[in-house]
Amino acid sequence: PVVKELFGLANLEDKIRQTYGLRKVVVVPGDCDVSPQVKLELGRAGAKALLSVMDGKDVVAVTGGSTLAEVANQLNPPPNVTMKQSWFVPARGGLGESLEIQANTIASGMAKRVGAGYRLLHVPDLLGKEAYESLVHDPNIHDIVNMIRQAKIVVHGIGDAMEMARRRKLEPSMVEEIQKEGALAESFGYYFNRDGVVVHKMLTLGLRLEDIKNTETVLGIAGGKSKAKAIHAVLRFGHEDILVTDEAAAIEIVNEL
Ligand code: BG6
Repeated sequence: PVVKELFGLANLEDKIRQTYGLRKVVVVPGDCDVSPQVKLELGRAGAKALLSVMDGKDVVAVTGGSTLAEVANQLNPPPNVTMKQSWFVPARGGLGESLEIQANTIASGMAKRVGAGYRLLHVPDLLGKEAYESLVHDPNIHDIVNMIRQAKIVVHGIGDAMEMARRRKLEPSMVEEIQKEGALAESFGYYFNRDGVVVHKMLTLGLRLEDIKNTETVLGIAGGKSKAKAIHAVLRFGHEDILVTDEAAAIEIVNEL
């Protein structure tokens, strides 16, 4: 509350932007943990940020999640803009979550809204070594995997590590391990501790950390007080370019600086 009096939203944005050397930070008012309307505004702001970095010939890799689903719903490009030469792809394989919030669904939904193309990745995200080896050489999968790994823009949600471990149905022994390692955040299938260090990786056909580091724009969209620590951890990872969040998370982040 003290911070709230001292800083307006613009000040919260500046403070986070400067501390983490980001290109842009957008903070929408409120707390999307408690208000679906705020989540909708977060989605709208995320959609606007995405459109602002697209130039009509992009490959955009997107994660799943309820926040990204909201972004997809709000993606309304200006009428004179054509994105026929852009592509949307899922950042990772399937997670076994409900269809509406899977990355494949979000990629195709976004593409349709802006008149772009899409490619889907029909493999589970959790792959054993043998399955990985045989799938990675399949020509169809190879094509889409290449496209994902060369994405110019990555749009992703951020989740609390333990909640995402549950949603991603991680094995109990693995959950225990990452908990011991201090995992706070999950994003694009990776788990980060409070210093932004990756504490858990897995073999994936999708986007890898090295791909994320080479991307032109990494756009993170997440809000809610309950996600503040997770968002903070991903900021410390140091590869975000644009962050779209809400006031409740932003206040916590600034308080902890
Ligand atoms: C997942 C993404 O699908 O959604 C993650 O792969 C992210 O990167 C998570 O952590 C966030 O989900 P939500 O529903 O909280 O937006």
